[in-house]
Amino acid sequence: MARSVILGTGAAAPSKILTNQDLERIVDTSDEWICTRTGVKQRHIAEDGETTSSLATEASLQALEMAGVSPEDVDMIVVGTTSPDMYMPNTGALVQKNIGAHKAFAFDVFAACSGFVYALSVADKFAKDKLNSKILVIGAELLSTITDWQDRNTCVLFGDAAGAVLLSGEPKGDRGILSTHLRSDGSLWELLHIPGGGCVYPPSAEMAEKRDYCIRMQGNEVFKHAVRSLTDIAKEALKANHFSPDDVDWFIPHQANIRIMKQVAERLEIPIERVYVNIDRYGNTSSASIPVALNEANRLGRIKRGDVVLLDAFGGGFTWGAVIIRW
Ligand code: ACO
Repeated sequence: MARSVILGTGAAAPSKILTNQDLERIVDTSDEWICTRTGVKQRHIAEDGETTSSLATEASLQALEMAGVSPEDVDMIVVGTTSPDMYMPNTGALVQKNIGAHKAFAFDVFAACSGFVYALSVADKFAKDKLNSKILVIGAELLSTITDWQDRNTCVLFGDAAGAVLLSGEPKGDRGILSTHLRSDGSLWELLHIPGGGCVYPPSAEMAEKRDYCIRMQGNEVFKHAVRSLTDIAKEALKANHFSPDDVDWFIPHQANIRIMKQVAERLEIPIERVYVNIDRYGNTSSASIPVALNEANRLGRIKRGDVVLLDAFGGGFTWGAVIIRW
């Protein structure tokens, strides 16, 4: 049976770090509140010249190097992002130019924090359709550019980063992506959205002054939906593969909030020791959070060949999804 196999991983984050103590000087908050309510201690924030595509490029080059694949051999590039460099061109096209992947076609997937899991699911279908194809799947965000730095409800949460995997369509074998599971519920869009900048509320001086190009979230409502949806979709993924929680070697959920991750792990009966957590150092980096964590776990040798890895994402839309991989 054909399978998509991850041959390499990479990640990048800006060197500038914003700590909770720094945030105490910007809004009415405290390190203690942020740590206990979210698990975030610091986040990386882009400086001049750093963009979503530049971070995506760095992460991609690392993934290619690990895989031993040349940019000229890449067939497709797909980027999950909600903070692209521009609305046009797509971020994938900019990565294609930057790395010199001349024969690749490129596009973005717009699914908020589920962007990487959505992009990986799409890429999995392409990879199995064209065997031996090489696909870069990226999650990349500069959330700092769509964060309202006067809103303490959201500005303490987000950070900038990118993560990438190099996927290969292998003719047969028992490792690779075992299944993908995606869901959406647009009826709840208002709980987590960016009001301005689209055709409904185009850019204007008033929009900019009200910072309506920034993320607006009803945090506690989103929290409840996130816990429920992440749990349900992960259970569905496990059931589809006849796996029990004991079969999962690494659970890598979207790093939105440590309390969400703990509650989902508890409901899934996966011990916290098998949950990969790095929200303390990156904050919520939306589409980038899962590939950044996956890359860390891979490069640290935590994930071993043959391990079962469960990815689980939830974000604006709402969108959510899970992927099971045998490493
Ligand atoms: N510092 C201090 N106090 C704060 C802060 C802050 N930074 N932010 C909010 N508070 C206050 C509130 O004003 C409120 O005060 P009040 O009781 O006097 O009204 C109190 O803290 C509690 O507020 P809640 O919103 O109920 O706090 P909660 O425990 O729910 O935590 C949080 C908020 C961290 C946002 C949480 O709800 C959360 O993580 N939600 C889900 C986020 C998520 O998963 N998003 C999905 C992906 S993101 C994406 O797609 C881009």
